[in-house]
Amino acid sequence: AKIVDIINKAETIHSLTKEEIVDLLRCDEYDQQLFLAADRVRSQYVGDQVHLRGLIEFSNICQQNCFYCGLRKENTKVKRYKLTPDTIIDLANKAKSYNYKTVVLQSGESQSYTVADMQYIIKSIKALGLAITLSLGEKSRDEYQIYKEAGADRYLLRIETTNPKIYKELHPGMSFENRLRCLRDLKDLGYELGTGCLVGLPNQTMECLADDILFFKSLDADMIGLGPFIPNADTPLAQERGGTFNTSIKVMAITRLLLPDANIPATTAMETLDKNGRIIALQSGANVVMPNVTEGEYRKMYMLYPGKICVNDTPKHCVGCITGKIQGIGRHISTEFGFRPKQKINK
Ligand code: SAM
Ligand code: SF4
Ligand code: FES
Repeated sequence: AKIVDIINKAETIHSLTKEEIVDLLRCDEYDQQLFLAADRVRSQYVGDQVHLRGLIEFSNICQQNCFYCGLRKENTKVKRYKLTPDTIIDLANKAKSYNYKTVVLQSGESQSYTVADMQYIIKSIKALGLAITLSLGEKSRDEYQIYKEAGADRYLLRIETTNPKIYKELHPGMSFENRLRCLRDLKDLGYELGTGCLVGLPNQTMECLADDILFFKSLDADMIGLGPFIPNADTPLAQERGGTFNTSIKVMAITRLLLPDANIPATTAMETLDKNGRIIALQSGANVVMPNVTEGEYRKMYMLYPGKICVNDTPKHCVGCITGKIQGIGRHISTEFGFRPKQKINK
């Protein structure tokens, strides 16, 4: 089929075959039409508001060894930190003062906080009237349940890649099956579920990316976060090329066409590759931004990949910066929690 027909089909029925997605990803001639279609679907299903989620990177301690990530356990160059529970709650309070309605609690995967610590943190932040998103990696179903009951609303756990062979190569000591188990448990427990992938991993093809997009759809993910893989010199993938900005935006735009009412962030990694990256993303299907509210030296110590934006800026500076940019393209900062709209489409 012609590329424009594929774009029209996706915009109309929010469904494509794997072959059609691969055709879209391979051909760059109609990218502008693709981005405009994704922008229209975004506007129609989730509106012109942009939801800001305050990101608290509360610890860089990690027991895993993901090949792409600067926080991997075997990277001895990282100075490890963990914020105290009361410091984390204080950052959430500040996020509230910047009018963020959600905080995202993100960390490396570790046991360095007890379940009781996490319950205390979640309950205290919940009492501030904020929505809470967790991004703590793989846990047992019981632990996910305890945090849900403590008040967590959403969970982010990217599948990273749906290709089992690539997954295995990049995640020593981890299993694709357990990743899927976590995603199923989270959904089953009633979390709003976020997943996503890295774009441009070694040996990843356009077919792999098409499978990733179809996976988000089959999971009926509520949130999909994706961005380019950016090689980090202190990891085994130091010599790799990494993903491109354009392919990342295309994967995101197609994801919007197929999951019209999902929450999709314009990610930090996108802005790392293009200085206007988040705005371009917001005009190509995205409706969420996650400004960093981590303070001081800790920002620099949560270094997943080189060139991460905002590491020398304060939370206060970032809120002004991103608000100005969003208003500059005629969009508004949402004053709501920004859950996925209830009506489920195309079932
Ligand atoms: N430890 C938790 C986990 O893995 O789900 C949460 C924190 S982890 C740092 C968050 C995300 O960072 C991962 O899902 C991964 O996609 C992304 N990431 C890690 N290294 C990256 C890199 N080199 N380039 C781009 N994104 C990266
Ligand atoms: Fe740890 Fe997450 Fe980085 Fe993997 S991606 S090394 S689990 S922080
Ligand atoms: Fe941090 Fe622009 S959002 S400096």
